[in-house]
Amino acid sequence: MKLRNKEVEDLVFKSYLEEVMQKKKFLKMNRYIQHGTTTCLLHSVAVSYYSYRICKLLKLNIHEKELIRGALLHDYFLYDWHAKYKPTRNEGFHGRIHPKIALFNARKDFKVNHIEEDIISKHMFPLTFYPPKYKESLIVCLVDKACSVYETFNKHAYSTITKKVVGTKKERRMIERRINLYN
Ligand SMILES: [Fe+2]
Ligand SMILES: [Fe+2]
Repeated sequence: MKLRNKEVEDLVFKSYLEEVMQKKKFLKMNRYIQHGTTTCLLHSVAVSYYSYRICKLLKLNIHEKELIRGALLHDYFLYDWHAKYKPTRNEGFHGRIHPKIALFNARKDFKVNHIEEDIISKHMFPLTFYPPKYKESLIVCLVDKACSVYETFNKHAYSTITKKVVGTKKERRMIERRINLYN
């Protein structure tokens, strides 16, 4: 059976996602809410998936591994930004400081290259002073904003992604078990 382009692209996306998910700490993002009822984990997967899909639809020549991985790690700050006390309290407000924290964590736990670093550190532009340097960073920066608005107004955001990309119910239960193991 011949696979359609989109099916092949989804498999490529899934393989990079699974590679990053090998790191249990990455799954810790499922503990924290990003916007509405969407967790940081699902938000990051969605930003990564849609950034990748848009590039494919527009037939952009991109570094796809870097785009997918950089987007998956763009909010790897690992704390509840809604909580009263957060690590950023004395260093500046969350919106401005979390790309630096995400980059610090990503460098510690993954091998990230200059494109992935740019994606993570510039995704909050114009809140962060320097603009994205690569097209991959610019796309993630724009998709992140669109996803954030969508999540804020949708209680059940990304049901398609959850099923098609993050996995079946059984696979999600496995992920949950892994998170519990980590706890
Ligand atoms: Fe962010
Ligand atoms: Fe984000």
